[in-house]
Amino acid sequence: MSEFALQTPTQDAGLDTAMKVVFQWDYDPQVEELRRLYVKATEAQWIAERDLDWDRPIDHAKFAATPLGVSLPIEQTSYWQSLSEETTWELTRRTAGFRLSNFLHGEQGALMVAAQLVNAVPHTDAKFYAATQTMDEARHVEVFARYIGKLDEVRPIAPAVKRVLDATLQTDDWLKKLVGMQIVVEGLALYSFREMRNLTEEPLLKDLLTYVARDESRHHAYGVQYVERCVPLLSDAERTELEDFALEAARTLIDSRNQQTLVSSILPIWAEAGIDPAELLACVAQEREALVRNMRGARRLGPVQGFVIPTLRRCGLLSERVAAHFHDMLRQNLGSTVVGADLEEFLERIPDLPRDTAAWVLGQA
Ligand SMILES: [Fe+2]
Ligand SMILES: [Fe+2]
Repeated sequence: MSEFALQTPTQDAGLDTAMKVVFQWDYDPQVEELRRLYVKATEAQWIAERDLDWDRPIDHAKFAATPLGVSLPIEQTSYWQSLSEETTWELTRRTAGFRLSNFLHGEQGALMVAAQLVNAVPHTDAKFYAATQTMDEARHVEVFARYIGKLDEVRPIAPAVKRVLDATLQTDDWLKKLVGMQIVVEGLALYSFREMRNLTEEPLLKDLLTYVARDESRHHAYGVQYVERCVPLLSDAERTELEDFALEAARTLIDSRNQQTLVSSILPIWAEAGIDPAELLACVAQEREALVRNMRGARRLGPVQGFVIPTLRRCGLLSERVAAHFHDMLRQNLGSTVVGADLEEFLERIPDLPRDTAAWVLGQA
């Protein structure tokens, strides 16, 4: 532990934000579903130290099934298959460390946005709920940091993730904060947590993600229930602005140019694990077709098409105009086979939101 000081060497420069703080003098319940969600959240609080078994060492063999979170299943390449058990463990461990580090930094962003929402949202029930979310996010920061400490080291935040968190923290519009955080960032996170939780066999990671994913499904529900109430009251211009904010956030996180920066951050980590990243990438390029063919339907759909866009549609934030932009962006990144050749086909393929997100995230739906 470093020595206590007013200025810490690890803090960043600080971000100027434009948030407005709003008092609400009417304390009666007004948005029933948010009040219920708040009560549910207080009942579902858990304690990281008490409820997770931190003394368990990480099981290397069981950890092997943890998904790497890159867009192609590189663990199926002949190059990967030819590596020794020791090298595979090092690669899996460090790649997961990188991915979990970005979850961790994202959780810190969520912690601060949730705290801003307490200040900025105008309805009492929404302030109450955001207060419970703030507590949840503090716990998520705590558990991810602790787990990474057992596995690897905390890696720096990916620039794309930082940009979206900054934009969400900086805006003065609380609805944009809700859309940026609850719908886009947490939608993508929920999708990733679900995948990691359901595929990993490492018991501590599985337990930790079970608790976190349950909380996150509530955060997503807060966004949906609150935003879908607000959207019908917006002017056309306001709704367009909100749609564009969601589009830009998604674009920053998944556009291939930003994915490129994600890949370039991970290459040195792979080299640390003792392989030649260029050789692995060459093998991925060579075997790409077979890798894509082996991917199952849901994975091919991906988090934006499979979850974020359905959420936006449910909230009334998917006009034909913005849907066309989403289609365009996804087609450039994933190709027409995955996203559909035209807007009509694209919209047809968008699934409905799961009826019970909490069950869906735990693989029970
Ligand atoms: Fe979280
Ligand atoms: Fe969250």
